[in-house]
Amino acid sequence: MKNRLIYMDHGATTPVREEVLEAMLPFFKELYGNPSSLHSPGREVRRAVEEARGKTARSLGADPEEIYFTASGTEANNIALRGAAKQHGKPGHIITSSIEHHAVYEVCRDLEREGYRVTYLPVDQFGMVDPADLEKAITPDTFIISIMSANNEIGTLQPVRELGWIAKKHDILFHSDAVQVVGQLPVDLNELPVDFLSLSAHKFNGPKGVGALFMRKRTEVTPLYRGGSQEKKIRPGTENVPGIIGLSRAIELAVSEIPQKKEKLTALRDRLISGFLEIEEVILNGHPGLRLPGNVNVSFKHIEGESVLLSLDLEGVAVSSGSACSSGSEEPSHVLIAIGLDHSVAHGSIRFSLGLGSSEEDVDFVLGKIPGIVKRLREISPTYHKH
Ligand SMILES: Cc1ncc(COP(=O)(O)O)c(C=O)c1O
Repeated sequence: MKNRLIYMDHGATTPVREEVLEAMLPFFKELYGNPSSLHSPGREVRRAVEEARGKTARSLGADPEEIYFTASGTEANNIALRGAAKQHGKPGHIITSSIEHHAVYEVCRDLEREGYRVTYLPVDQFGMVDPADLEKAITPDTFIISIMSANNEIGTLQPVRELGWIAKKHDILFHSDAVQVVGQLPVDLNELPVDFLSLSAHKFNGPKGVGALFMRKRTEVTPLYRGGSQEKKIRPGTENVPGIIGLSRAIELAVSEIPQKKEKLTALRDRLISGFLEIEEVILNGHPGLRLPGNVNVSFKHIEGESVLLSLDLEGVAVSSGSACSSGSEEPSHVLIAIGLDHSVAHGSIRFSLGLGSSEEDVDFVLGKIPGIVKRLREISPTYHKH
C-alpha cells in the first residue's frame, strides 16, 4: 500500500502555503498592470510592489530602499558578488568559505578565472569557519568577504555577526548567503554587520523563482544586466509581481512564526538524530547544536545514500542525498569533503530537512523504516562485510 507523502526535503524547496497563494492570485488575474505604467492599473500594482518591499524589509529589520527583488537566491548572490567585483574595477582579493552553495562557490571560481584571487577558508569537523582564520586571510587588496549564514547540506550556522565585525573593522564588504536561514531563524539587519544578504522565497513556503538581495544604503554594485530602471537598475526587467507579493506574504508569516516553529522543529530534529545514532556505524554531519532547526544530515556507513533515498522513496518519504543541486553528480559533495569525511562515508550521506507540516508521526515513521533499509543494504554491501 502506498503511504501518504512524508516530505522531508524542505532544504531543497517547500510547498507554497495557502495564504501565500491567495495573496498572489489577484496579481495573475485582475491586477495585471505593469508597475512601471503610469495609468491607474499600473500605479495600483506599483503600490502593491512597494508594500511588499516594506513588509519584506520589516521582517528583516531593513529599510525598504535596501531591498532589491531578484529572480532567485542564485541571482541575488551573483548580483552581490559579481556586482561588487565589477564595481571594485580592478583585480583584488575575495574571501569565502570552502562550504558555500554553488551559487557563491561557482561565482568565485569564475572570478578567479577573470583574475581575482580567492581564499576558500577551511572549516572544522562541524563545518564552522574560525573567525581567527578570516582575520589572518585578509590582505590589503581584500574587497569582499562572503560567508553563508547556514549551510544547506549540513545545517551548520556560522558566526556571521563575529565574521561581519571583522570585515567592518577592516572596511571590507561583507555578504552572507542567508537563503537557508531567512524564515527559519531571526535575522535583524539593524544590528547584523552585513552589507549584502541573499534570500529566496521558495525556502520559506513562498513561490519559486523569486528572491531578494538586501544591500545596505550607500553600498554600490555595478549591475550585471542592462535594461529598464526597475529595482533601481540593479535588477532590470519587468518585476515578477505575483512572485514578489508571494515572497512578502511568505516572509511575513514565516518570521512571525519563528519562535514556535523553531521549538517544534528542533525537537523533531533531535528526535530523528537520536534515533539514527542508535543504529551502528551512523554519524551525524554538521554541528550537534548550532544547526538549522529542521536539518538532519547523517552518513550511513558502508552504503550509498542514493540507495537509502530510493528505498525511502518507495515508502513515500522524500529526502535528499547531499545537496539537491549536486545530486546526480558522481563526485561527493564538497561540503562533506571539507568537514573531513572519506569519500565512501560522504557517499552514504542523507539530508532530512523538516519544515511546516512535519510531525512526530512522520519522524517515527522514518525511524521505524530506516533500520530495516540500512540492514538490507548492508547485507549486500561488500565493504560492510570486509569491515
Ligand atoms: C544556501 C543556498 N544558497 C543559494 C541557493 C539558491 O537559491 P535559488 O534556488 O533561489 O536560486 C540555495 C538553494 O538551494 C541554497 O540552499
